[in-house]
Amino acid sequence: MISLVAIATFASAFFSLVDSSLLVVPRKPRIIGGTNASLDDFPYMVSIRLKALETTGFGDGFFCHGVLVSPKAVLTSTDCVLNGSGPRTPEELSLVLGTASRTNASGAFWVQPEQIWIDRDRRLAVIKLAQEVLHSRPIVLNEFHQDDGKQCILMGWGANSTDGKPMETLQEVYVRIVSEKCPKDLICAGENSAGGNAGICFWDTGVPLLCDGSLSGIYVGRPDHCGMEMANFASVRGHWDWIGSQIALANEASSRLANFWWILILSVVMIMKNKTLMQIK
Ligand SMILES: *[C@@H]1O[C@H](CO)[C@@H](O)[C@H](O)[C@H]1NC(C)=O
Ligand SMILES: *[C@@H]1O[C@H](CO)[C@@H](O)[C@H](O)[C@H]1NC(C)=O
Ligand SMILES: *[C@@H]1O[C@H](CO)[C@@H](O)[C@H](O)[C@H]1NC(C)=O
Ligand SMILES: *[C@@H]1O[C@H](CO)[C@@H](O)[C@H](O)[C@H]1NC(C)=O
Ligand SMILES: *[C@@H]1O[C@H](CO)[C@@H](O)[C@H](O)[C@H]1NC(C)=O
Repeated sequence: MISLVAIATFASAFFSLVDSSLLVVPRKPRIIGGTNASLDDFPYMVSIRLKALETTGFGDGFFCHGVLVSPKAVLTSTDCVLNGSGPRTPEELSLVLGTASRTNASGAFWVQPEQIWIDRDRRLAVIKLAQEVLHSRPIVLNEFHQDDGKQCILMGWGANSTDGKPMETLQEVYVRIVSEKCPKDLICAGENSAGGNAGICFWDTGVPLLCDGSLSGIYVGRPDHCGMEMANFASVRGHWDWIGSQIALANEASSRLANFWWILILSVVMIMKNKTLMQIK
């Protein structure tokens, strides 16, 4: 009996040793833990660059992410549009769409920001574009609550390891929703239960969190390490009305212009009608 207990104790001690040694086996870190994404799947991804740094080579000025939420608006984190405590001017930024590659300009096109709206409390910003983007599909916004443990997707050009640089190719990775201890108006996500060290890493500011293929959150935290158990995203559901009103505001100028043309066309039609009426008389 005694010897059996001793063996059992020894065995459990041995296996717990094995277990803890398994824990220190390096897990594959990448976005962290991600794989190459195809832009065909994520045409709304926006690479935000500093014009001043972009002069030395395509991709050198990359520092942040945004998502096209309408043909005239990009949603991002305030950290992407603040310079220290002050706002950046639209002229400082260059927005690149159309390529999953950070450094290969093939297929890329540029859109010029016209105006930047910052809400520091929400940690969200909307960049109004100077022109409508017609050849990329905006993302659909997700207004639904996401249950704890639900599998969602992150994507971005951020580093794949603590000492890494931004990635060449857009990365995507599965993460899970974490509800416990997640502050109000935020949506939190962390590494998946499969044990992969997956999630946010350096340079991932502004990355989108996609649940069921639509936008549930924007990363607004500041990563201090990679593959966090819980990263904070501004919740699209929590800021639904604000995001909607900013998009409407961005679209307004173009719809005002459209209204102007409508009124012009209508009055020309009416004048012509009057003329034909007069001729009939
Ligand atoms: C990070 O990405 C680089 C370039 O794609 C790759 O060579 C490296 O193995 C990756 N590192 C990790 C830890 O996955
Ligand atoms: C703003 O950013 C530029 C370059 O990114 C930097 O040179 C400058 O010092 C910054 N200004 C402030 C007030 O932080
Ligand atoms: C850039 O991408 C294009 C299209 O995928 C490819 O044909 C070209 O060889 C790439 N250029 C470099 C320098 O990798
Ligand atoms: C991912 O893209 C990089 C180029 O950025 C390439 O070197 C690598 O082979 C790709 N990985 C896979 C699995 O296709
Ligand atoms: C059409 O003609 C009537 C009088 O014939 C005039 O009162 C009206 O202002 C005209 N409307 C337009 C749009 O020119």
